[in-house]
Amino acid sequence: MYGENIDTATPTGKHNTTASTFAESVLAGLALPQKTLPCYWLYDTRGSELFEQITKLPEYYPTRTEVGILQTNIGEICEAIGPGASVVEFGAGAGTKTRLLLSALVTPQNYIPIDISADFLESAMTHLAADYPTINITPIVADFTSPEALVKATLPGNNRLGFFPGSTIGNLSDIEIADFLSGAKKGLGTDAQFLIGIDLVKSTDVLIPAYDDAAGVTAAFNLNLLQRINREISGCFDLDNFKHEARWNQSDSRIEMHLVSQIEQAVRVGNQTFSFRKGETIHTENSRKFTLKRFEALAQNNGWRLKQTWIDENDYFCLALLG
Ligand code: AVJ
Repeated sequence: MYGENIDTATPTGKHNTTASTFAESVLAGLALPQKTLPCYWLYDTRGSELFEQITKLPEYYPTRTEVGILQTNIGEICEAIGPGASVVEFGAGAGTKTRLLLSALVTPQNYIPIDISADFLESAMTHLAADYPTINITPIVADFTSPEALVKATLPGNNRLGFFPGSTIGNLSDIEIADFLSGAKKGLGTDAQFLIGIDLVKSTDVLIPAYDDAAGVTAAFNLNLLQRINREISGCFDLDNFKHEARWNQSDSRIEMHLVSQIEQAVRVGNQTFSFRKGETIHTENSRKFTLKRFEALAQNNGWRLKQTWIDENDYFCLALLG
């Protein structure tokens, strides 16, 4: 179904990738009463590969549903956006979704992907430039959750469109979403539009398997974080003593990923030791699911109006155009 393999994957947060920052972050997170590690550490090279496999699992509906919505409605979507667009993508695209959009827009002028990984941007954009010779491609290396950075960049074009597919916005808390949406408004300009993918609230019979698949790929993705700690900062996690769990948190309307300690144990990381009760967890990711009403309120409270929505026939996923 997918022409190629790069998805808009790398989520959010303060992408500090130096080893010392990883160490500090892990040691601080494991010292919390509810042990918690920021989800962006899941995406090292192995983690990104595993996420790529997740997007193709039968249980993981978001990627294929969003691509389907784009394919089915691309004419209407591009008509709403209008000709001569300058597309600013939050998180490096160059995948199926970006290409679908750039191929169907009428005379797009500029494509400006924002991503923290300079290496990824460079190789992805080399390929994209070869296929879209008439579009000016200007990558920006930055943390895409800080769209205020855009205020300093002088963005080209008058029909500016923010593009944030993948429901990666679901990794953020309400406060982070507010900062992101209002920052994007300032950065893109008050007359800009924003095409954003949001995953909708649905039955836990669908949600749980999407985050705990039969083949165990999501479990491997989650457990890879412990392996990364072992590898990079001298952790001593025994992976057999932890189990992946996907939980639905009803009050916060989100899927949570946890790593559950199977036994009472003490684990050394660097020169510190952390004790785990049997059943105690490390919380590793949130994936928020929205009702349209809730998302509309978040958009409105942060400077945007919900102009149009496109939804699949199961009401699983929504592409929303804000203006
Ligand atoms: C990349 C954040 C959109 O929340 O669905 C998939 C990450 N984690 N399976 C999501 C993820 C476990 C994904 N996002």
